[in-house]
Amino acid sequence: MSYYIRGKLELKSKPLDKVAILNFNLDEDINCKPGQYIMAWIPNYGEIPLSPSFCSDKKLQLLVEDVGTTSNKFVNLELGSYAYFRGPFGNFFNLSKGNKYLLVAGGTGAAPILMAAKNLSELNVEAIVIYGGRSKNHLVFLEEFNKYLRKVYAYTEDGTFGYYGVVTKDLQSIIDSFSPDVILTTGPEMMMRKVIEISVKNKIYCEASIVRIIKCASGVCGSCVLEPLGLLTCKDGPVFNGNVLINSNFGKTMRSESGREVEIK
Ligand SMILES: Cc1cc2nc3c(=O)[nH]c(=O)nc-3n(C[C@H](O)[C@H](O)[C@H](O)COP(=O)(O)OP(=O)(O)OC[C@H]3O[C@@H](n4cnc5c(N)ncnc54)[C@H](O)[C@@H]3O)c2cc1C
Ligand code: FES
Repeated sequence: MSYYIRGKLELKSKPLDKVAILNFNLDEDINCKPGQYIMAWIPNYGEIPLSPSFCSDKKLQLLVEDVGTTSNKFVNLELGSYAYFRGPFGNFFNLSKGNKYLLVAGGTGAAPILMAAKNLSELNVEAIVIYGGRSKNHLVFLEEFNKYLRKVYAYTEDGTFGYYGVVTKDLQSIIDSFSPDVILTTGPEMMMRKVIEISVKNKIYCEASIVRIIKCASGVCGSCVLEPLGLLTCKDGPVFNGNVLINSNFGKTMRSESGREVEIK
């Protein structure tokens, strides 16, 4: 969809100081699939790509982390305010690739994985999640994952909830006991790189929804390129197969806003 759809902020929570979960009522449906993104605009501030955690029936839920000008404005938006959305853009997770799904979600990147969990449960596909964050407060979708999935492995880096450690700590032993056909992941880039490496080693089909600097969202500017393959995150992604990502600069370098190649830490 190339025109803007208006959304009114009806409900908001702030699980963390710099993170908000925003629920909008839309004038029209957008119908985003898990992994896809929308462009979210606040006039006079800017437009940013966001992957919804829910998006149908004229309702839109976004998890926004305040990292700069526009995301700050979204996180601090007041109830009753309007924002404008276009999309959906890009491809989405394949939910019919197998019978057993292992979802791996890190921190505030969990939104598209939550939508995948809900859809898989509606399709009656067996699925479990490994969900990790810095502390219990960072596991903002814990309740929702427990609602949709039969097993939630929670990990916190400070040990305040679930297992102590990072989300990938027991990935191999969970793969050994669950034997998934498919692994889907979102989260910090280095975490996803590790998930992909383990998936590829185990010959398990894996998809990741990735983040690059999206400017035009239409394949024109080259800002979101995945090198050396020349794939564009805004059009060919944001969901990519693990076998593709492992042969790219994913987890190593990306283009900054000025187009310079920068290291990912
Ligand atoms: C497909 C996709 C889905 C995303 N989904 C979410 C989501 O669900 N929730 C969420 O909080 N964030 C999400 N992001 C990241 C979000 O788009 C950026 O945090 C946002 O664009 C930053 O804009 P800003 O104006 O707040 O920050 P700026 O002041 O412009 O910059 C602050 C920092 O944010 C990064 N950044 C800036 N512009 C972009 C951009 N267009 N794309 C990616 N990173 C950028 C830069 O590294 C910069 O250091 C997603 C990004 C992509 C590409
Ligand atoms: S954002 Fe411009 S080509 Fe992808």
